[in-house]
Amino acid sequence: MGRLCRATSHKFLSVESQVSGPALRARGVSKAFGGRQALEGVDFEVGPGEVVALIGPNGAGKTTLLSILAGIAEPDSGEVDGNGVAWVPQQAALYRRLSVRENLLLFARLQHDAGQTNDPPGQMVDRMLELTGLGERAGDRVGTLSGGNQQRVNIAIGLMAEPAVLLLDEPSVGLDPGQRERLWDFVLGLVGTGTAVAFSTHDIQEAERYAERIVVVAEGEGIFSGTADELRQAVDTGSGDLESSFLAFLREHGH
Ligand SMILES: Nc1ncnc2c1ncn2[C@@H]1O[C@H](COP(=O)(O)OP(=O)(O)O)[C@@H](O)[C@H]1O
Ligand SMILES: [Mg+2]
Repeated sequence: MGRLCRATSHKFLSVESQVSGPALRARGVSKAFGGRQALEGVDFEVGPGEVVALIGPNGAGKTTLLSILAGIAEPDSGEVDGNGVAWVPQQAALYRRLSVRENLLLFARLQHDAGQTNDPPGQMVDRMLELTGLGERAGDRVGTLSGGNQQRVNIAIGLMAEPAVLLLDEPSVGLDPGQRERLWDFVLGLVGTGTAVAFSTHDIQEAERYAERIVVVAEGEGIFSGTADELRQAVDTGSGDLESSFLAFLREHGH
């Protein structure tokens, strides 16, 4: 239920920075688990309406960073400034034996009771069914939906509080290419309405296709931020293949 706590620990942006500054910004974020440093002085920001991909090897700290940005985990040091951040965890916290409508209604009521939205839950559910295009499946058990459609429900729950920034942790894992494309059509439709998106992925092609900017995290440090072409230019692999460039970049930086 971590997504219900979103942004409660974040400072509010000043009116001025809401107009011109990033939608979400982290400065010098560090976090250790036991003796192990998961993040070490990471800077990260997402502009209003921007789409950013986080890539990096397993254990690099992507999930830890996203959960700190979401306000559901506390950094040991560093600052996070942002308002209206929604968190879509990798494991959808859906009730498989309840219908799509029942799942949406449950979370709409929780958000309403938590004061995160004034919308009557029933109205919210209708809006989310329309947004997800799942109106015809409203009565179906969530467990019978495809992975892509379950992910839509998961994202719709994150959207109930009309966030300025949507954080998605490996949203397309397990989806086939068609499901993945439909999921991104859906997510990028939201960006059209001004919502910024930051997502993690192991799929370098997906990062290039859907993100305006790529951030590389390795062993707890942010080691690159720029466009896919800038990542290609950062190494001399003699190939236009972004995955090769990414791997060469990691090697050059000792990872
Ligand atoms: N709750 C936790 N307890 C202990 N160690 C953790 C926990 N969460 C993450 N870690 C460790 O922090 C590091 C970063 O993990 P994570 O953020 O999940 O990386 P990624 O999402 O990039 O694969 C890893 O070494 C991982 O084992
Ligand atoms: Mg992860």
